[in-house]
Amino acid sequence: MKTIAVLTSGGDAPGMNAAIRAVVRTALDKKFTVMGIERGYSGLINGEVMPMERKTVADIIQRGGTVLKTARSEEFKTEKGRKKAVGVLKKFGIDGLVVIGGDGSFRGAQELSKMSIATIGIPGTIDNDLAYTDFTIGFDTAVNTVLDAINKLRDTSTSHERVSVVEVMGRNCGDIALYSGLAGGAENIILPEIGYDGDELCRSIIREKTKGKLHNLIVLAEGIGGAEALAEKIQKVTGIEARATKLGHIQRGGSPSCMDRILASKFGYRAVELLEEGKTSRVVGIRGGKIVDLDIDEALNMSKHFDNKLYNIANALA
Ligand code: F6P
Repeated sequence: MKTIAVLTSGGDAPGMNAAIRAVVRTALDKKFTVMGIERGYSGLINGEVMPMERKTVADIIQRGGTVLKTARSEEFKTEKGRKKAVGVLKKFGIDGLVVIGGDGSFRGAQELSKMSIATIGIPGTIDNDLAYTDFTIGFDTAVNTVLDAINKLRDTSTSHERVSVVEVMGRNCGDIALYSGLAGGAENIILPEIGYDGDELCRSIIREKTKGKLHNLIVLAEGIGGAEALAEKIQKVTGIEARATKLGHIQRGGSPSCMDRILASKFGYRAVELLEEGKTSRVVGIRGGKIVDLDIDEALNMSKHFDNKLYNIANALA
């Protein structure tokens, strides 16, 4: 294997740049030629390929977003699109491809593997929704962004003695809500994995108010509903003022945390090692603090384990 390429795909995540840097610099140290593909699979189809040098990835470890840009490609979902992509890889003499992204991006890599392209996946998504790895790049930074918002909302909710409902991202995975809710001392954490009873929630808010609680902070995962509707219901049923805050894409930006930079560096390094070892169709991850790699089919077939213990702790401490 002589030439490898790297792309970022799907929703961006803080730490993707650190992963690109790790892939590029590790590969150059190992005497590979390295190419960067812009705009994910869409750019691959269009031949948006550029050479990467050590200095191309200078001064990016601290930056959010992705210098390679990212996209969600409908064309790549078609056989015709994927054939075009393989044609571009062949044209540029690319022998191995590192894909940094989430579930959808990995499914793309899986398809390319079936077409005899050597692929390695690096998990990059704020959602932390990939079952085979304890953490994905970007999750820690996103949780810290949410935590900062929760701290601020707590100040104003206490002053006004209000209920505050904060809606966070994560698609169908409640990890961002669970981790930020526990760390932020939220009174209630509402997750798609658990569900909730709206009437009981309102009764608990009244009970807590009667006991003298000055505010009630609710962290709501986007996968189970909208903050606006819930805040309206709470205000109507309890008579207590309630406000909704949807954090939105703020959660996707910002300088990556130390944890995300280190995770990205380890993942990038291991991805190139795997290609060097001739291993393909694999994804890298972290389990119990150790960097692991798994077959891409096996990884995508796993079901995400919900951390009940963490949820119970959050409830016990609320
Ligand atoms: O997958 C990352 C994510 O930020 C999800 O948490 C969210 O549901 C989605 O992407 C938003 O997508 P878009 O940026 O296309 O609006």
